[in-house]
Amino acid sequence: MSIRIVGTGSALPEKQVTNEEIAGLVETSDEWIRERTGIGGRHVSTGETVASLAADACMKALEQAGRKAGEVELLLVATCSPEDALPCAACQVQEKIGAVNAVAFDVNAACAGFLFALHTAWAYVEAGIYENALIAGSEVLSKIVDWNDRGTCILFGDGAGAVMVQKCDTGGVLGFVQHSDGRKGSALFCGNRQLANPYVRPAAADSYVRMDGREVFSFAVKQVPLTIEEALKKAGLTPETVDLFVLHQANRRIIEGIAKRLGVEMCRFPMNLDRVGNTSSAAIPVLLDELNRRGQISRGQVIVLSGFGAGLTCGACVLKW
Ligand code: ACO
Repeated sequence: MSIRIVGTGSALPEKQVTNEEIAGLVETSDEWIRERTGIGGRHVSTGETVASLAADACMKALEQAGRKAGEVELLLVATCSPEDALPCAACQVQEKIGAVNAVAFDVNAACAGFLFALHTAWAYVEAGIYENALIAGSEVLSKIVDWNDRGTCILFGDGAGAVMVQKCDTGGVLGFVQHSDGRKGSALFCGNRQLANPYVRPAAADSYVRMDGREVFSFAVKQVPLTIEEALKKAGLTPETVDLFVLHQANRRIIEGIAKRLGVEMCRFPMNLDRVGNTSSAAIPVLLDELNRRGQISRGQVIVLSGFGAGLTCGACVLKW
């Protein structure tokens, strides 16, 4: 028994911001950003929220799957930038789309969050608890990015992607691997509210994303190929047999490094980071939806999904479309 993706959807904020516009905010250039990252632009929220973008993406995934919101049994939202501490974004999405019969909760594993949520759904189905799930990755990172820090503000974008998954007897998810390494937590960090109660004086707060770019870069290039190979081994497959590698869209050079280590040509690594930047947990489902809607994925193809991010976390999933 496994799960199969039966519908995809995505939603991006209306406002697009080019590298040139960012060069008007911090000392950088279109040339530097493109050369070092492959990013040409991104969508930035002017009011869209994690919940509204996720709801939009979920409705599209449901429509493509031919399902009604009331049929959803499990609703997961992967996010590290929710609007509110309470209630969770998934419950806000549940209310927006009318998924009244679903159990809803969030998963936060940063850029690997969508994959970890997909694996969670797989485990629920495998355990016989639910037969379907709606899973979104949604982020409005623009509100936690320091727009004075050229090392990070050039990288991120806002958006959401979603998939509807259904229990299946053959195909679907064939192998899954997840890893976390909390010892490397400081490599990519964003503080939250400080402890402040009648008994404690709050310390100075820094609630913006801080990143050791080189550390994250080398983690991704080393760890992602190993994780993909581990997942492929579980599925009884090798990199040569994979039709498409849909990876977290952090940096073109990271993807090139991963392709090289796996010994696979770049044409099997589709990318959209030139248009949308790094949308963290939304990156994989947004790209998957774009490929699916353009007819670039067909039934029976073997696809590897893989993401990495703050934690540090890393995951890979092998599936038969
Ligand atoms: N424009 C111009 N110059 C810049 C910029 C910028 N936007 N940012 C940094 N620089 C400068 C630095 O100040 C430095 O100057 P110096 O040599 O005078 O000190 C020089 O460029 C080189 O800086 P590095 O940080 O070494 O640049 P690098 O080639 O490593 O690129 C980058 C930086 C793009 C952040 C890279 O390290 C990277 O992509 N790392 C991975 C980050 C990532 O993917 N994070 C997200 C993954 S997890 C998640 O998605 C949440």
